[in-house]
Amino acid sequence: MGVGRLEGVRGPWSETLESGSCFDDTAPIMEPLTFKTAITSTKPNEILLRGYPIEELMGNVDFGQAVYLLFRGELPDARVGKLITAIIVSSIDHGPTACSVNGARLSASTGAPLNACVAAGVLNINRYHGGAIEDCAKAILEITGRADAESITLEAATAKVLDEYRARKYRVAGFGHLLHTADPRTPRLFELAKESGACGKYVETCQLIEAALTKQLGKRLPINVDGAIAAVLLELGFEPELMNGFFMIARVPGLIAQAREEMTREKKLRTIIPEAHTYDGPSKRSIGAG
Ligand SMILES: CC(C)(COP(=O)(O)OP(=O)(O)OC[C@H]1O[C@@H](n2cnc3c(N)ncnc32)[C@H](O)[C@@H]1OP(=O)(O)O)[C@@H](O)C(=O)NCCC(=O)NCCS
Repeated sequence: MGVGRLEGVRGPWSETLESGSCFDDTAPIMEPLTFKTAITSTKPNEILLRGYPIEELMGNVDFGQAVYLLFRGELPDARVGKLITAIIVSSIDHGPTACSVNGARLSASTGAPLNACVAAGVLNINRYHGGAIEDCAKAILEITGRADAESITLEAATAKVLDEYRARKYRVAGFGHLLHTADPRTPRLFELAKESGACGKYVETCQLIEAALTKQLGKRLPINVDGAIAAVLLELGFEPELMNGFFMIARVPGLIAQAREEMTREKKLRTIIPEAHTYDGPSKRSIGAG
């Protein structure tokens, strides 16, 4: 054990290497010894996010634009930024019955610190809760791809793909909801997408899936917020594998608020039945009401 072939090469890691505690110099060295990043560069007194000084972004771009910049490398126009922000606002919280939220509250009741409560909530963002965005986007892409490949209409491709899913009892991600029969977030997100010029064949396909599922099942299976986000992010050119990250970004403030409320208002280590909660916040109100 020792510094070995790195002798003479100095960097922030040098002390650890010289102590010999974690470096086996008989192991083959993988080159390069670090990673490349195109996201943020830092040096003393300078932080550049995709090349932009962070202090210039502060106060000049909104959060949605900054997230887009981080993921895509370029600043979007203000309309797209507003749409991304709306996606984030749409999923900021859904009350204690949401699996992520009750995960965070349960951890808070055990005495876990705030970071652990947030982590517990984020760990519950999975295929059937919050993490349906990626699979929904893939289903939409399968349908649009099939329509192109077979030169058939989107409607015909939707019917074909859904028949295949049904045959293997596959639930289409992004559709259905435990509480809502019409998710209030979906039409609003599509309306904002239209205003931003981001409402094309992916949103159309998402709506075709809803119609086809409703016909297939004989009951309304609404596009839920995950499904709506998937369609809109496809319109904006995002890759499906990144998409669940939007839900995580959105939900973290809600997890913090809910965990903190549990810590400060409730008895420790209590039995929590999420559905049995009561609400004692403000009654329904409107931001336009002054
Ligand atoms: C969200 C969800 C769990 C709600 O489930 P639910 O209201 O309890 O629905 P049920 O379990 O009563 O389903 C009844 C039937 O409706 C059908 N169904 C429900 N959701 C379906 C979906 N997304 N795709 C296809 N069929 C579906 C199935 O036929 C189901 O019967 P099954 O149990 O034999 O599969 C469910 O709709 C689902 O799994 N959706 C996909 C995952 C998703 O989008 N999650 C994000 C939620 S915001």
